[in-house]
Amino acid sequence: MAQWIEIFPASELKSGMHAQVDLAELSLLLVNIDGEIYAIENVCSHDGGELNDGQINGFEITCPRHGARFNLKTGAVLCAPAFEDINTYRVRIINGLVQVYDEENSK
Ligand code: FES
Repeated sequence: MAQWIEIFPASELKSGMHAQVDLAELSLLLVNIDGEIYAIENVCSHDGGELNDGQINGFEITCPRHGARFNLKTGAVLCAPAFEDINTYRVRIINGLVQVYDEENSK
């Protein structure tokens, strides 16, 4: 798998929007906050819940299942019942396309 994976045109994810993206071995959540796009793994570290239906406040997302919160920039867990951070992915825009760096599958 290529290191940088093309996701979709950047114009499809405007500020304040988020999108779930399922790749072969990875489910991602992309969030546009004030024009900057962040990518996190779409899996809560507490019990595997999908985060894409979670509430987003600033740079925080709340898992819809049991309320754990994570930082969208860093993946850091912010409150129980989760205790482990979640993965984040580098994002860039090339020729108008959002690309995500898949570090785990590029080794
Ligand atoms: S699955 Fe996310 S808080 Fe439990």
